[in-house]
Amino acid sequence: MAAKPGLVGRDRETAALADALTAAAGGDGHLVVATGGLGAGKTALLTTARELAARHGFTVLAARGSYLERELPFGVVSRLFVCVQPGEEVQHLPRIAAALGQSDSLAEPGPVTLPELHVLHRALARMAAERPVAVVVDDAQWADQPSLQWLSTLPHRIEHLPIFVLAGVGAGEACTGPQTLEELLAAGTTEIRLDELSFDGARALIEQELRRSVEDEFVALCRAEAGGNPLLLLNLVRAYSDHVEGLTAPALLPTVNVRLRRLSPHAPDALHALAVLGGEVTLPRVAELIGTEPCELAGTIAALRRMGLLSPTVLWCIRWCATPCARSSPSPSVRTCTPPLPGC
Ligand SMILES: Nc1ncnc2c1ncn2[C@@H]1O[C@H](COP(=O)(O)OP(=O)(O)OP(=O)(O)O)[C@@H](O)[C@H]1O
Ligand SMILES: [Mg+2]
Repeated sequence: MAAKPGLVGRDRETAALADALTAAAGGDGHLVVATGGLGAGKTALLTTARELAARHGFTVLAARGSYLERELPFGVVSRLFVCVQPGEEVQHLPRIAAALGQSDSLAEPGPVTLPELHVLHRALARMAAERPVAVVVDDAQWADQPSLQWLSTLPHRIEHLPIFVLAGVGAGEACTGPQTLEELLAAGTTEIRLDELSFDGARALIEQELRRSVEDEFVALCRAEAGGNPLLLLNLVRAYSDHVEGLTAPALLPTVNVRLRRLSPHAPDALHALAVLGGEVTLPRVAELIGTEPCELAGTIAALRRMGLLSPTVLWCIRWCATPCARSSPSPSVRTCTPPLPGC
């Protein structure tokens, strides 16, 4: 099973997915969890998995958790099963019937019940009796609670069925049900951690974006700035190749700001303070400045690190927007120190 063209530097991860799919096709069902910080490439990997699964004859059910719809019971289940004909028994379960569009009422909140679990498991098993099934859920951290509970029960239900389940989870992100998410992470038979791209992976991404080969020095500088994160690398390289000073900041900030606000009310201020004051400032001082408790701030900073938001590129973007004088201060070294690329 080959990687999708366009996905670079993730051969090990793609091979792990291919192994899990092959095992699942043979009746050895797996739950794989792919974790990584903001822009680490979770969606890109899940897209590859969906394509691999479809190419190998799986029925693919795919959905993503929606932060704005996280309170909607069975929202993720309804998106997964959108094209599936529900069984008769659904009529006796108002919340499932509502989620699957079988009734006009809105599903009541509350934890998943045993009959609901049973019906969903049966629907999946029925499908798997015909063809192997791949269930792919992106942004599982924002899945509604009953869907997340159902997902975390799957490993015990699928171990002898041709069912492959893949959940993408954003590291450090705000999440709907932290304990249920932990259950899901613990239940996963395989965890794929999307760490930084290697030097060669970063080179492949940069060269794919620029459509030409680049010097080692340029790759090293990009990695020093963006830490091997695909989203940050792409933004940096686009800014560089377009010769637009500060382009990285406007392109990144809307995404970063949304995630910060979701994380905690003081997360935007915390990241701004860290970006502007630099590494010398103490945690109690930042806490005092932004009006929060040091231990709460420590938790937020740990989450920011897991999300990959303490990288030089992100901090520079925040400074660039927050302080007009930062716009004349040294920008990421990729633009200031690099010998021109051929053709740039
Ligand atoms: N291995 C890769 N090869 C090529 N492009 C990649 C790779 N990984 C990610 N990208 C690209 O980098 C960008 C960010 O990736 P992606 O959206 O998959 O990250 P993510 O982890 O899902 O981000 P988020 O935290 O916002 O959900 C996208 O444009 C994607 O196509
Ligand atoms: Mg994503």
